[in-house]
Amino acid sequence: MSGQSDLVERIMRLKGEKKAVILAHNYQRPEVQDVADFVGDSLELSLCAAQTDAKIIVFCGVNFMAETAAILNPDKMVLIPDANALCPLASMLPADLVRLYRRKYPGAKIVLYINSLAEAKAYCDAVCTSANAAEIVNRVDSETVLFGPDANLASYAQTKSGKKIIPIPQYGFCPVHKLFSKDDIIRLKKVYPDAEVMAHPECNPDVWEIADFVGSTSRMYREAMASKASKFIVATEVGLLHRLRKDRRGAVFIPAYEEAICVNMRLHTLEKIYLCLRDEKYEVKLPEKIALRAREPIEFMLKTRETQR
Ligand code: 13P
Ligand code: SF4
Repeated sequence: MSGQSDLVERIMRLKGEKKAVILAHNYQRPEVQDVADFVGDSLELSLCAAQTDAKIIVFCGVNFMAETAAILNPDKMVLIPDANALCPLASMLPADLVRLYRRKYPGAKIVLYINSLAEAKAYCDAVCTSANAAEIVNRVDSETVLFGPDANLASYAQTKSGKKIIPIPQYGFCPVHKLFSKDDIIRLKKVYPDAEVMAHPECNPDVWEIADFVGSTSRMYREAMASKASKFIVATEVGLLHRLRKDRRGAVFIPAYEEAICVNMRLHTLEKIYLCLRDEKYEVKLPEKIALRAREPIEFMLKTRETQR
């Protein structure tokens, strides 16, 4: 096993030689974030993947994120350091279920959270992220919208958009964001009364209802950089705390639940990134028909980005 600084040096060398770019989600391990060219939320990573002129994209995130990069870049090589990095939430909505709901509600448009399978995206009208769910729901042309797979984000989009939203499936959830509770946050607020509470919309509604700020991981980041508060209770995966602490050194960031860890996100390590670049594995490839069909609803979202950030 190589030492960390040796690995970082080798990754940097290979990255330059192969004209590769490393994209990392806000939940990645600190050392992975530090070696990346860009760290961000799902929306920012999609935008980055759509705009890069690198030959190889190394995607440190869960596989639906790398798949989105591959869909947007059919002529580039998209690699994921550990191919087992799956999102359990995405697996809660198989493509067949989307088609079934389409038949059940023929007049309703379907908006899928980017945390969904490429096969499912291929049957929807628009994709959204946690940074723009309500805006995308408002942009599709129907008053009733089928939204999945995260039921909490569906509720959040309903409160913000005013449209009637039917969650598909009824109880899709992120196992990590289910760990946060209103009671834990109230207890922490007693210890840190002047702290600002920030929550991800994948949390249960009673959690985001008592939060001072609700948003995607990067929106929380921007809020923490701009806010007058100097203490923050953070209800999302604890990986985001690395970036927050690094970039606002004087502030105190308190995890709303210390064990909120997405094990799938943590599968990528420096060692695996090095091997990924060296051996050009694991390539993310999708059947052409699915990639073509899924591209349209993703592009629908990317075209509205100016209003979402
Ligand atoms: P963001 O788009 O806010 O980064 O969230 C992605 C995610 O997987 C949340 O669990
Ligand atoms: Fe999926 Fe939840 Fe992990 Fe995000 S935190 S990647 S939604 S399991």
